[in-house]
Amino acid sequence: MSYQASFRVWRGDEAGGDLRDYRVEVNEGEVVLDIIHRLQATQAADLAVRWNCKAGKCGSCSAEINGRPRLLCMTRMSTFAEDEVITVTPLRAFPVIRDLVTDVSFNYTKAREIPSFTPPAGLGPGEYRMRQVDVERSQEFRKCIECYLCQNTCHVVRDHEENKENFAGPRYLMRIAELEMHPLDAADRRDAAQDEHGLGFCNITKCCTEVCPEGIHITDNALIPMKERVADRKYDPIVWLGDKLFRRTR
Ligand code: SF4
Ligand code: SF4
Ligand code: FES
Repeated sequence: MSYQASFRVWRGDEAGGDLRDYRVEVNEGEVVLDIIHRLQATQAADLAVRWNCKAGKCGSCSAEINGRPRLLCMTRMSTFAEDEVITVTPLRAFPVIRDLVTDVSFNYTKAREIPSFTPPAGLGPGEYRMRQVDVERSQEFRKCIECYLCQNTCHVVRDHEENKENFAGPRYLMRIAELEMHPLDAADRRDAAQDEHGLGFCNITKCCTEVCPEGIHITDNALIPMKERVADRKYDPIVWLGDKLFRRTR
């Protein structure tokens, strides 16, 4: 049941590179990461690829397969025709280190810019109480495996390096939404979401949602509700009056 597949794999580093053609054996039940490993073992011992779990849980094997951002370990070879040329390239939105490995530190920087959960005054850990519906809302967002496929896909930064400084990306706008919707988080995160983390750049195209391997409804359940909360604050006449009286900036 094995066959030889045609692979085109991007080889290079930050100075440049190109696509190289390989013929690699494929066996029944294998995923693209298996083929990349066989390529390493038999023809290209210096091929760089990042992976850890091979189970869709560590988020480290993100790459682009035929131009679509995907996890190498969760993409079955059976989804391709046997005579199809399969092109594997590194994530486009991040700088290449070597071959299929990119520098994703942009995401760590964005994560650090978001103030952490701010518990209510007078309550200690163990005294927090939440309704189940609020727990479930957070839990959807907490399925995130930090693969950054959504960050890589979002058109705001995919071809616009200049937007990176002012845009946290869907994964971290979702984190802000999670905290904003948390009933025990005492911080008001709406102004910062808009002014510092670039929520306004998002035009809800849902491309991030489409590539999320965890099936998180990033746009519908995080970004749109966050936009509604920002709009409520901005256009609420009582908030407007309060801001005028107390000269708050928005
Ligand atoms: S919905 Fe927003 S964050 Fe997601 S890909 Fe589109 S513009 Fe980017
Ligand atoms: S939200 Fe989904 S696509 Fe984005 S980093 Fe998390 S798991 Fe990956
Ligand atoms: S190797 Fe862990 S998600 Fe693919």
